[in-house]
Amino acid sequence: MCGTVEATTEPRFRPGDQVLVTGYDLGVAHDGGYSQYVRVPAGWVVPIPPGLNAFDVMAIGTAGFTAALSIVELERNGLKPGQGPVVVTGATGGVGSVAVQCLAALGFQVAAVTGKDGEHEYLRSLGASQVLPRSIAEPGTRPLEKATWAAAVDCVGGDTLAWLTRSMAYRGAIAASGLTGGIDLKMTVIPFILRSVKLLGIDSVMCPMDERLATWRRLATDMKPANLSASVREIGLADLPDAFETLKNGAARGRFVVKLRT
Ligand SMILES: NC(=O)c1ccc[n+]([C@@H]2O[C@H](COP(=O)([O-])OP(=O)(O)OC[C@H]3O[C@@H](n4cnc5c(N)ncnc54)[C@H](OP(=O)(O)O)[C@@H]3O)[C@@H](O)[C@H]2O)c1
Repeated sequence: MCGTVEATTEPRFRPGDQVLVTGYDLGVAHDGGYSQYVRVPAGWVVPIPPGLNAFDVMAIGTAGFTAALSIVELERNGLKPGQGPVVVTGATGGVGSVAVQCLAALGFQVAAVTGKDGEHEYLRSLGASQVLPRSIAEPGTRPLEKATWAAAVDCVGGDTLAWLTRSMAYRGAIAASGLTGGIDLKMTVIPFILRSVKLLGIDSVMCPMDERLATWRRLATDMKPANLSASVREIGLADLPDAFETLKNGAARGRFVVKLRT
């Protein structure tokens, strides 16, 4: 959620500050953001960084923040533009569509994997230079396939993540954040011991505040997604049940931004 600070005893904030919250217990063990007024612990709150507005941060949201954390973690493991293509799976979804845009902004060559045949042009418009059908990630029998990807941003898991382990280039790293394709992982240790492939877990919920602030600053500057409005549908509260159904069916394109007052 995002909004304006109304009242606080926390010296870090003043009434009128523009802020956002993702993760922690919000919407899970604590009332969520579908409300005009929300009270949360100050330790959860992130100032909206210069360069982004309220619409931008909600268009990015938890999914986009997770995409950015994935890229930061890949960079921490040595990834730089020019090392080869970076593949993004679940590319038309929330994590995927922001990952494609951030990677393109940073100058990476981006390959997008999608199950939506009709969205290849859309993914190219977000910055993908190559679009591949989801069928490429079918279960395989070989422990290694052609060494292709310098890195991967994966929010799908399951057979897709197993395929990634088999097709990474030497020392390639995979940032794994999701499970839309399943939680089971059937793979071998061969990619780790023969190609030095790295599997990096990504959690946005309990991400420490210093990394959170630094990552939002990146999202506002060098990593800023260039085409956010193309990957967002603005909806009202009454549209939520339909939006949830679309998400459950894996049929969403980008993100929904919920406007409380229309
Ligand atoms: N670790 C974290 O902190 C964190 C934070 C946010 C989200 N997540 C997780 O990340 C995942 C993605 O979140 P999201 O917000 O991007 O969801 P989303 O908007 O629904 O996108 C998921 C995308 O995955 C693809 N997909 C759907 N069903 C699939 C299937 N059966 N097999 C293969 N691909 C499938 C679809 O993309 P295509 O049609 O383009 O293939 C879909 O648009 C979820 O599992 C979510 O729980 C984790």
